Amino acid sequence: MEPGDLLRPILRGWTVPLLLFTLGYTLVYLPNSEKELDAGCSLLSDTHFVLYSKRVVTPNGMGPYAVEVEGERIVSVTKRMEAPKSTPGKPRVLDYGNAVIMPGLIDVHVHLNEPGRVEWEGFRTGTMAAAAGGTTAVVDMPLNSYPTTTTKELLVDKIETSKGKIYIDVGFWGGLVPDNAYNASKLEDLLEAGALGLKSFMCPSGINDFPATTAQDIQASLPVLAKYGRPILVHQEVIDPPAEPAHLVLGEPTSNARSYSRYLASRPLSWERVAVKQLMEVAKDTKIGGPAYGAHIHVVHLSDPEDSLSLIKEAKADGSSVTVETCAHYLAFAAEDIPEGATQYKCAPPLREAQYRELLWKALMGGDIDMITTDHSPSTIDLKLLEEGDFLKAWGGISGIQFALPATWTHGSARGMTIEQMSKWWSTGPAKMANLPRKGSLEFGKDADIVVWDPEASFVIDSHYPIYFKNKVSAYMGHKYSGKVITTFSRGRQVFEEGHHSPKACGSPIYPV
Ligand SMILES: *[C@@H]1O[C@H](CO)[C@@H](O)[C@H](O)[C@H]1NC(C)=O
Ligand SMILES: [Zn+2]
Repeated sequence: MEPGDLLRPILRGWTVPLLLFTLGYTLVYLPNSEKELDAGCSLLSDTHFVLYSKRVVTPNGMGPYAVEVEGERIVSVTKRMEAPKSTPGKPRVLDYGNAVIMPGLIDVHVHLNEPGRVEWEGFRTGTMAAAAGGTTAVVDMPLNSYPTTTTKELLVDKIETSKGKIYIDVGFWGGLVPDNAYNASKLEDLLEAGALGLKSFMCPSGINDFPATTAQDIQASLPVLAKYGRPILVHQEVIDPPAEPAHLVLGEPTSNARSYSRYLASRPLSWERVAVKQLMEVAKDTKIGGPAYGAHIHVVHLSDPEDSLSLIKEAKADGSSVTVETCAHYLAFAAEDIPEGATQYKCAPPLREAQYRELLWKALMGGDIDMITTDHSPSTIDLKLLEEGDFLKAWGGISGIQFALPATWTHGSARGMTIEQMSKWWSTGPAKMANLPRKGSLEFGKDADIVVWDPEASFVIDSHYPIYFKNKVSAYMGHKYSGKVITTFSRGRQVFEEGHHSPKACGSPIYPV
């Protein structure tokens, strides 16, 4: 008997069910944009609708546009002086008048801390806060979850853990540590498993299972990143000279530990400068024809707009593939204004004097800084040591995921920043760096990731203000802001509208393209 004789009757019996299955599959899963969105994932029952306002931020500038959304995508963006009429049989029109409609913010530097430190944050609360702030995608850092995400297995676990808990889309950076830096197969596994790129520290991270890497370690990883066309994000501080290493993370009690200037002096600008100098040397490998052409180096949370930024500008001009972010808090606060013992302002690198804040704004406006992030880095309230007010011992990290938009708008508009500029630093720039081609602008075919907000409405983040991240401690609390988020859409789903979230969390992990 030939093998074919055995197969024939089996195939015959399966032909009809197989055809029906194929047909069913085609009808249900294609085309994706017309797929019914799951019930409960959106506050809006419509899956085909039009958003209109007089101030829509498009790649062609801001103006009166109608943005048509069908399923998860934007299907048209049309300039029109008046809102289209809502007529039966046509998609519903949501007319937002003079409010701003722009791409949702993309925050490529957040610490959601799940699994392992859910008492610090977690996918659910972190992404609820993001959605309420008009952020439609975040990229989570490999720390301070426990364990940290430094292997394929740990990344797969983290991605699985996120499912059903995220209100917006979440991408993941993998961790570069000395243990995997010289092992290409480990790094490849991590990148294959879904890491959009890597993150490493050039100084102690404050987390035991995430040791620091040297510039040499980082250099060793670049050819692998080049092969995949992905970036490495680097915490740019090197302890040099080792000023007061004992106080770096959890210091000894000192007489004036409640004084902010004491903490500021413990992490001088020179640490950042030395790290950036070493990093920009290594970045030369990313030049055309270099051993790591295709890789990219991204400097996180720049606080030094002088020497460090000059080195970055030179490297860019020299053809190295480099970008740099600063954080909303460096643009908002100044060391001189930080009250004694107010550890909610502690972060690393530290908030510096007002003159540096102004230079950071100047560098942004001049096009030398590519994007803004929050570096949302929460902890439990007790670790902030608010009563003790010890800046040297308190956890360093500012919770800002919910306040990116109003903080940037308030401080930026006071300095002449336009809404289009803000959108470039919060959406276009990060989408490009993290390789998210479907996100970052309101255009045909892109994900319908949209924030609608009122630049003129102001509010105080007081004790009545609804804060959605887990531990309600933040440098932004107690301050007044303008720029109120009205509603947020994530891939066509209305996930937030003035105090309400969708019943279900239907965001997706973002995988590399
Ligand atoms: C690299 O890591 C793999 C595990 O992914 C291991 O099997 C291999 O021995 C390592 N190679 C070196 C040179 O250490
Ligand atoms: Zn960080």
